[in-house]
Amino acid sequence: MSTDHQTRTAWAAAARKYEDEYAAHLEAARTAVLLPPELDALADIVPGADVVHPLSGHGLDDAALVRLGARTVHGLDYSEAAVSSAQRRANELGLPCRYTQSTLPNSGLPDACADLVYTGKGALIWLADLDAFLAETYRLLRPGGRLYVYEAHPLVPLWTWDADEPRIRPDRGYFAASHVNDTFPGRGAVEQQHTLADIVTAGLRSGFLLENLAEHPEPFWRPGGVDAAAWDGRLPNSFSMLARRA
Ligand SMILES: C[S@@+](CC[C@H](N)C(=O)[O-])C[C@H]1O[C@@H](n2cnc3c(N)ncnc32)[C@H](O)[C@@H]1O
Repeated sequence: MSTDHQTRTAWAAAARKYEDEYAAHLEAARTAVLLPPELDALADIVPGADVVHPLSGHGLDDAALVRLGARTVHGLDYSEAAVSSAQRRANELGLPCRYTQSTLPNSGLPDACADLVYTGKGALIWLADLDAFLAETYRLLRPGGRLYVYEAHPLVPLWTWDADEPRIRPDRGYFAASHVNDTFPGRGAVEQQHTLADIVTAGLRSGFLLENLAEHPEPFWRPGGVDAAAWDGRLPNSFSMLARRA
């Protein structure tokens, strides 16, 4: 089985959660807000913006983007369950969001249709060809438009979830090309490992002007029942990147 097929199969299974958790997500969407570093970066950019959100998943961030003032949000995901449940919720809440099933890096959207491409929180790890993805996001942006990524730090696959002390997993390496995800959701999917340098230089190669790059101690996601010492503020667990189309 190709790694791409293995990942799609794992997500097709995991995507059931988008339907199972529909009611909880509907409630969460009523009050969803972006994380503090996202608000710092985007508070002046989102109002009035047409936003494209590749790998939109459950789409809760789309409700938060609308709350911050986005004019429209267009979510893209290859999971039928993700797209249909997010669309149903947006319709129910009267949000200006639409969802299209598409397989990135091919969005299927026209050139220069967005003021902001927003993505992350478990997105770049599913994309083997970062150059193709970033070139596609560049193509979608209007001149002067922004790409914003808030993502797990590329070191995260190395941290154990031990509660007493942070440790490095003996089966992982920072410079490995990929590893197989062993936690829900996405268990069994092949995670592509891009180093921070890979991500930044791929953005520059696509023509983006880097406006801000920051590393953060907080993970963007804490699975229930886990309190890892790796999250106690000493190690990087997420990063954010804001880049502008010339
Ligand atoms: C971990 S989720 C995170 C997405 C979103 N940020 C969220 O918080 O829900 C990853 C999503 O990416 C989708 N996905 C993975 N690879 C994809 C690809 N090549 N094209 C489109 N969607 C993809 C999966 O279906 C899944 O819904």
